[in-house]
Amino acid sequence: MPELAVGLDVGTTGVKGVAIDPDGAVVAIAEEGYPLSTPRAGWSEQDPEDWWRATRTVLARLVDAAGPDASIAGIGFSGQMHGLVALDASDRVIRPAILWNDQRTGAECAEIEERIGLERLISLTGNRALTGFTAPKLLWLRRHEPESYSRIARIVLPKDYVRLRLTGEWAIDVADASGTLLLDVGRRQWSDDVLEALELPAAWLPPVFESPDAIGVTFGCEELRNGIIVAAGAGDCAAAAVGVGIDRPGPLSVVMGTSGVVFAALPAYEHDSLARVHAFCHAVPGQWHAMGVMLSAAGSLQWFHDRLAPETPFADLVAAAEAWEPGAEGLLFAPYLAGERTPHADPSARAAFAGLELRHDRGALVRAVLEGVAFGLRDSLELVHALGVPVDRARASGGGARGLWLRIVASVLGIPIELTAVEEGSAYGAALLGGVAGGVFSDVHDAVARCVTVRETVEPDSAWQSAYDEIYPRFRALYPALENVKETTS
Ligand code: XUL
Repeated sequence: MPELAVGLDVGTTGVKGVAIDPDGAVVAIAEEGYPLSTPRAGWSEQDPEDWWRATRTVLARLVDAAGPDASIAGIGFSGQMHGLVALDASDRVIRPAILWNDQRTGAECAEIEERIGLERLISLTGNRALTGFTAPKLLWLRRHEPESYSRIARIVLPKDYVRLRLTGEWAIDVADASGTLLLDVGRRQWSDDVLEALELPAAWLPPVFESPDAIGVTFGCEELRNGIIVAAGAGDCAAAAVGVGIDRPGPLSVVMGTSGVVFAALPAYEHDSLARVHAFCHAVPGQWHAMGVMLSAAGSLQWFHDRLAPETPFADLVAAAEAWEPGAEGLLFAPYLAGERTPHADPSARAAFAGLELRHDRGALVRAVLEGVAFGLRDSLELVHALGVPVDRARASGGGARGLWLRIVASVLGIPIELTAVEEGSAYGAALLGGVAGGVFSDVHDAVARCVTVRETVEPDSAWQSAYDEIYPRFRALYPALENVKETTS
């Protein structure tokens, strides 16, 4: 029986796990969901215990499905990025985790950029202070929940919390650490300058590893034997890129998950002078990446389904959208349900349908949602392109990357989009990283070469592409127009 590699993605809606053999074939797959709480408008929280419970369920199912003779050589993690898990001196979670799409820290972001100076912050970290990032959340806690803040002994990000429970090891990888705003991304180490300027103790931060590094072994988890090697892993964007074979500059990675991501691997550290796109470390040692992130991609369709059509299967909603021509007769959707990050770093941005008329039905609304998300991805693509990155194709992953939506995205972006044989994106990338740590593969390039193949290419439809090129400027005009009608809260 060959040695298996397991990947676990600690996502926003649930944990997904895959077990793969040394040729990359999926031997077992399992998923377990959990809730997200929004105690106030703009807040987004989860209970880390839910992640751990779901991980154990997923591991039990994977082990069961892989069979009694299966032997796991290595486990890798991927996870929703940026989330703050604050731990006390006994490693107990102090308060619910504050997630990547939480928007409460507008004032703290302004404070960080003021204290450090925007230009210096960008030169130290490659990035600007964005509400989802981890550092502003620490400042928010210091101001609004001083009692919780005073009990912090260490912090971790979501997947690193789960790995701490699985191995007892406190660690982080360079890709996920990039999204804290505390990393010197160019040097791949914590930034003493930023920590000092923000008066945050370096002792709170875990040791930083490269993504395929082995950082510990399983210990005391009922579902697994002790002693299985566990990798540092990566934030889900970098893991998804590895999972679709982006182990060097070439095709872009486009993720259509809850968030929407346009990701370009870079051979050297480089950042936009205004930090309009993120500059982060890649999960491949010695590489970096540029990335634009929209906060509600498949999350927009999920919202539409959950709030407006909970009884209707997603497939039926998309089929109804298929009946409409590109542009749905003038209907536009601004996908800012959770505020926005790229290209509008604006926690108070709000979503809207514009151009409704009597003929429009539910299918038209869905079509507008699919297209609005695709235009949002194009906003990020334009910024990545402006960095000088060649843009001639992309590889897609995430729950939304299929059927009509993918044809729309290929046509709006104007590039062919490849689908890989295994669609599990970030969980698959995590498995490849776990396999490197566990000795199944010699390095990330070997893992990608042995496991990732392109199975299908979705070409842009030329008629749709011209239609979307004409509509795009109207989409671009939506955000500034909405600024004028926004409710102002004092
Ligand atoms: C990346 C980001 C999101 C989350 C989603 O910067 O915030 O893609 O990682 O899981």
